[in-house]
Amino acid sequence: MQPDHVRIFDTTLRDGEQSPGATMTSSEKLEVAKTLSRLGVDVIEAGFAAASPDDLRAVKTIAEAVGVTGVEGRPVPEPPTICSLARADKSDIDKAAEAITPATHGRIHTFIATSPIHREHKLRMTRDQVLEKITEMVSYAKSFTSDVEFSPEDAGRTEMDFLYEALQAAVEAGATTLNIPDTVGYTIPAEFGERIAMIRENVRGVENAVISVHCHNDLGLAVANSLSAVQNGARQVEVAVNGIGERAGNASLEEIVMALYVREDLYGIGTQIDTTQLTRASRLVSKVTGMMVQPNKAIVGANAFAHEAGIHQDGMLKHEETYEIMRPETVGAGKTQLVLGKHSGRHAFANRLGELGYPVSGDGLDKAFARFKKLADKKKYITDADLVALVSDELYQPTEYWKLEKIQVGCGTGMPTATVRLTGPEGQLRTEAEVGTGPVDAVYKAIQGIVDVPCTLLEYTVHSVTEGIDALGEVSVRVSPHDDQAQPDKINPQYEHSRARVFHGHGAHTDVIVASAKAYLAAINRILAIQEARRDNEAAGSAA
Ligand code: KIV
Ligand code: ZN
Repeated sequence: MQPDHVRIFDTTLRDGEQSPGATMTSSEKLEVAKTLSRLGVDVIEAGFAAASPDDLRAVKTIAEAVGVTGVEGRPVPEPPTICSLARADKSDIDKAAEAITPATHGRIHTFIATSPIHREHKLRMTRDQVLEKITEMVSYAKSFTSDVEFSPEDAGRTEMDFLYEALQAAVEAGATTLNIPDTVGYTIPAEFGERIAMIRENVRGVENAVISVHCHNDLGLAVANSLSAVQNGARQVEVAVNGIGERAGNASLEEIVMALYVREDLYGIGTQIDTTQLTRASRLVSKVTGMMVQPNKAIVGANAFAHEAGIHQDGMLKHEETYEIMRPETVGAGKTQLVLGKHSGRHAFANRLGELGYPVSGDGLDKAFARFKKLADKKKYITDADLVALVSDELYQPTEYWKLEKIQVGCGTGMPTATVRLTGPEGQLRTEAEVGTGPVDAVYKAIQGIVDVPCTLLEYTVHSVTEGIDALGEVSVRVSPHDDQAQPDKINPQYEHSRARVFHGHGAHTDVIVASAKAYLAAINRILAIQEARRDNEAAGSAA
């Protein structure tokens, strides 16, 4: 039986996390999983359990916390299916099976490359050997769960006759989802759509499985290819929030969902996503991965609903549909308004955050409200954009091993100097002063003098959240720690990345030097959080 809606399979936490610098802590992954559940996604690919003990733990935590009851606000009664990726390999499948066990609906997604270039150069396997592996490993995965997805990696460049054989072997061995990945983003829409139509015609038993697609964006065609596949019978689309993922990324969740929503007249089928949660999901993923959303990005970019040209504004005032094919509210992008000021109370503050999609309460609300009051002392009007920056800064930060207490800088044409005071993990107060090439350099040197987590600053960006001299400045940094040069590759853990892992941090403040210090400390705290999780998992592993 084919589903009556297009299933949304979200891979933000797996393929998305493979983007350089997008490393998330386990609590951030859990937060993203909850948001995906609230969106109504059908399947959450929570990670690649065999990549490391941290990854296995993260998938399991999500299976326990989100895969049993869903979360409050989920638009559909059933919890999402929790999935782990696994190579066509017994030990990978064992780990995936262990990780998804707590979920009510657990899926193992196993894959092996099928294209000639991968068979010859990467796998060094013949067609027959690949087919044998598919049968063996899909059957093995099936011994753990009835829900098994199979992907012929690089299907976009696989000979059609061999693709049919590979998919047939998978479906005969019990695969319930056949996923067709355009791994390197090589195909174009008409061609990819035709591939799906031909698979439906030529693979025996294909009607017993859901056809899925997983498109990469190397030519900027991931969304177009996925939609063409839907027109040709695909009923699951693999996506990532903001389109993040390997290289140029995956098809963007919000673009696929809204194309199916706005053009349901054409596609005749929709999704079960609550579209009003899209903006919130986009902001959260941007915060926790440090990957900024370009202002002109469809659906969730800052300018997606901004009308600049006079003729457009005139048309909009006469009738919104003159220049708008969807309302901003439909995707949860409320209009920017002057909302709160220094006399606004806690209740109004919490209310507005709730309306913006950030239902904060308890300790989180106390902290965010205290920051709001401080900001309101400096800034007359607090806009929605300020509120979002402030609450994200407070809620979506890694554990604070090191916390900024005080900062003093002197700059000008002389010698820029900075004095920084931090509180450490054991509550110790440390102060350090440094000279730098500029105030930010001096601050970062002073911080390093205290924390001693040597790293290279790869990227530093600052932008103003709203207009005006009293605007909040938001700083984002990306750093690479010196003792973390070689990392196991996520898909092929036997290889090591030659590149170092990249960590991000962000901070918001009316003083950009303070925002800079906060962003740098957030990146350092992220490194420390990931190192601690790794040590804990190693200790748990050796104790077991
Ligand atoms: O791009 C790809 O081929 C993948 C597979 C593992 C599905 O991510
Ligand atoms: Zn991929």
